[in-house]
Amino acid sequence: MSRFIISGTDTGVGKTVVSAMLVAGLGASYWKPIQAGTDGGTDATRVAEMAGVAGEKIVSEAYCLSHPASPHFSAETDGVSIDLERLEVPDVSGPLIVEGAGGLMVPITRSTLQIEVFAGWDLPVILCARTSLGTINHTLMSLAVLHDWELPIHGIIFVGEENRDSQRTIVEMGGVRALGRMPQLDVLDRENLRAAFDANFQPEDFA
Ligand SMILES: Nc1ncnc2c1ncn2[C@@H]1O[C@H](COP(=O)(O)OP(=O)(O)OP(=O)(O)O)[C@@H](O)[C@H]1O
Ligand SMILES: [Mg+2]
Repeated sequence: MSRFIISGTDTGVGKTVVSAMLVAGLGASYWKPIQAGTDGGTDATRVAEMAGVAGEKIVSEAYCLSHPASPHFSAETDGVSIDLERLEVPDVSGPLIVEGAGGLMVPITRSTLQIEVFAGWDLPVILCARTSLGTINHTLMSLAVLHDWELPIHGIIFVGEENRDSQRTIVEMGGVRALGRMPQLDVLDRENLRAAFDANFQPEDFA
């Protein structure tokens, strides 16, 4: 079954937009286990809007925290104690996209990093990486951490304008495959996300 963790080299790198594209392109369900920051909407509501999917494709968050910060601090600020046992991958039929918070080394609690939670799930990781300057360092470091934790790496999705040498260097030096590149879109709606998926990705890579 196609179930993937969507992580990234940093916060704001494009994980939610890539997730919405995969929800639209693969007909997948979506789960954001921990939402930290609710002003301006949640990632789940943005995915539903962008991908044009109804509520049944969106699994409710295990934790929806109001403060926009790292989950460990957002929870503390909201007076919430995060119970790791509640972070169980939902049992949905069909493909599932699970979007992490920020990057791999984000603390979920004062003693647990997000990558430790991922390691307990045994799902392949898709790493979203910018194409802009600085991406080689951030992406190779993220891949090194994934290797350290022995997580299965499904591939990289680049986000942004083409940067041939950076993309090539990451693939070659990181020993990882590129699943495709998500271009910058002026309008983030279902039609454009589907078109971006069809033009830049191979559905069989997500089987
Ligand atoms: N391909 C794209 N085309 C146009 N805008 C994009 C694209 N990818 C990302 N963006 C914009 O960049 C911003 C950050 O993207 P996004 O919210 O997907 O990042 P994220 O990695 O999910 O962040 P977070 O760590 O907060 O979950 C958003 O305003 C989003 O609309
Ligand atoms: Mg997001």
